[in-house]
Amino acid sequence: MINVLFVCLGNICRSPMAEAVLRHKVSERGLDQQISVDSAGTGDWHVGKPPHEGTRSLLDSYQISYANMAARQFASADFTHFNYIICMDDSNAANVRSVTGGEDAEIIKMMDLLPDETLREVPDPYYTGNFEEVYRLVDAGCDVLLDRIEKEHSLT
Ligand code: 4NP
Repeated sequence: MINVLFVCLGNICRSPMAEAVLRHKVSERGLDQQISVDSAGTGDWHVGKPPHEGTRSLLDSYQISYANMAARQFASADFTHFNYIICMDDSNAANVRSVTGGEDAEIIKMMDLLPDETLREVPDPYYTGNFEEVYRLVDAGCDVLLDRIEKEHSLT
């Protein structure tokens, strides 16, 4: 199994959206037995909560499931379980790197998957209210990520 973890600050807006979107794409490509997807937040304020209403209504509008998703906090053990840790912004990446034990997983910034975009971080819709913008970036980034994983692990 190839394990992918998305990380943001609260684990209620951006990273759960990315988790749901990537899992949807994995399923569309018939790769459910090869790739597993999860998400976590560097903060602990929303632990146990479902995705933010903005993320839920956006996913509803694209008919993408977020069933059984609940926020959890990023932990040191995630470094050994996950092959790829995709961070939504620079501060998430810095926070992940500050947790010790980070030798195994590859840490990637979501916007580094999209070098042609002017934005270099995924804007936080908790503050901007713009969930569609996050979807546009996450959707494109997940396509690039999935192509890369397929290549690196010879899945096609
Ligand atoms: P997220 O957004 O990191 O995309 O889940 C946030 C959610 C909650 C908070 C900040 C960002 N908060 O401060 O509670």
